[in-house]
Amino acid sequence: MSSITDNPSSDGSEQPVTPQQRVKKEVVLRVAEAKQKDATRGKVRIDLNVMKDLGIEVGDVIEIVGKKPTVAVGWPSYPDDEGKGIIRMDGVIRRNAGVSIGDKVIIRKVDTKEALIVKLAVASPSYSISSDSNFTSYVLKRLVDYPLLEGDNVLIPILGQSVPFVVVQTKPAGPVVVRDTTKVVILERPAEFAKVPRVTYEDIGGMRHVIERMRELVELPLKYPELFKRLGIEPPKGVLLYGPPGCGKTLLAKAVANESGANFIAIKGPEILSKWVGESERAIREIFRKARIYAPSVVFLDEIDSIAPTRGVFEDTHVTERVVSQLLTELDSIEKLRNVAVIAATNRPDLVDSALLRPGRFDRVIYVPPPDRKARLEILKVHTRNVPLASDVNLEKLAELTEGYSGADIEALVREAALIALRQDINASLVTLNHFMDAFQNIQPSLAKQMIKFYEEWVSKIRQRLPKYHITPNL
Ligand SMILES: Nc1ncnc2c1ncn2[C@@H]1O[C@H](COP(=O)(O)OP(=O)(O)OP(=O)(O)O)[C@@H](O)[C@H]1O
Ligand SMILES: [Mg+2]
Repeated sequence: MSSITDNPSSDGSEQPVTPQQRVKKEVVLRVAEAKQKDATRGKVRIDLNVMKDLGIEVGDVIEIVGKKPTVAVGWPSYPDDEGKGIIRMDGVIRRNAGVSIGDKVIIRKVDTKEALIVKLAVASPSYSISSDSNFTSYVLKRLVDYPLLEGDNVLIPILGQSVPFVVVQTKPAGPVVVRDTTKVVILERPAEFAKVPRVTYEDIGGMRHVIERMRELVELPLKYPELFKRLGIEPPKGVLLYGPPGCGKTLLAKAVANESGANFIAIKGPEILSKWVGESERAIREIFRKARIYAPSVVFLDEIDSIAPTRGVFEDTHVTERVVSQLLTELDSIEKLRNVAVIAATNRPDLVDSALLRPGRFDRVIYVPPPDRKARLEILKVHTRNVPLASDVNLEKLAELTEGYSGADIEALVREAALIALRQDINASLVTLNHFMDAFQNIQPSLAKQMIKFYEEWVSKIRQRLPKYHITPNL
């Protein structure tokens, strides 16, 4: 841990800065409980010396990383606690960091932005909140000066009870501090339906034209439903993403939902059949019911080939048949719901029930291709963002060498190279070209030419069957 940053110590002196005087980047502390009077104020107490080491002033926001990251305001420890290497925090902060008393957490300084918007949702279905402007300004008053990170819980006292809220989204993203100018939005629903993935378009390498198409088909209709209505344009009901494994279909669906500011209801095909044995149809109905209530929303049916195997081919045809027809019913009745988008993904398009692909259902089919050299370079950039690379690592060169590698393979390659670096030297601070070369031995490309051909053939087949098909790319 404790590495050195470039921040000179902030005492303003002109003396040359020796490494000892520089501030540490992070420190590991042991979690202890908060004193009663400090509880639920978003405060933690740590040694003044530790604060100084980290370049933190009293009242600054610090990042606390346990199983999860969270943020809190740093206050000096009680005199009795000095030198014990502990951080006192209340149960809410412990929960936000995913730790218990006695666990270790990493502490570091963090830059915060002023929160423009904070979206909250009640974190427990046992409360039903109907929000009006009085209520939101009450909540805002409670939260002013509070540091928040998406996914955090906060307790708001309401009529003598502490009601848990979850921070569903903040604008800007990342650590923010609530000010009296912040707009608080309270979603009138339990938080479990309001999970929005944090993936953004910048996390996707390559696929620019695919992203553009998804923006047109999904993001714009969700964001500006009135516009589409006025112009009389019918957005598609369903978009099917297909392509070889590990090339970013799931990633793309998450990014689109996130960037559309929509709720994201994701379900994997195999889960529908296994998790709700005997109740699969009800599960589908339930998913779409939620999607309608909590619109705008994106329903994401991942690995849809396993929900909907071509009828008659598999043994348990009755279950899948009923599930398919329930799905069709839902898609057919989605008409008036411009603010519900349905995205499905598969790497086995040949197994997807053809009834699902008829016009008015999944009638936009988008190929998520294997990454070409340029895309591989971008994917390498995405996945080496936080990797300290030696100067001999040339990403252009690596992009050339990774022909046949999927995005997931490239991610694995980078991880492997970093692991090799650590294995060779636990204090390694750079990942070198040699580490990458060694990693190539263990991480092989997963995309064979044969496989790519299979996807191309599939699309030419459905093109014949459904000539008016909306297929991207338009060949
Ligand atoms: N284009 C990409 N840019 C950046 N990372 C990528 C890209 N494609 C894949 N990855 C990495 O690989 C992981 C797996 O990708 P993803 O789950 O989106 O693949 P998929 O196409 O859904 O595969 P499958 O068909 O197996 O479900 C991603 O979480 C991401 O880290
Ligand atoms: Mg996937």
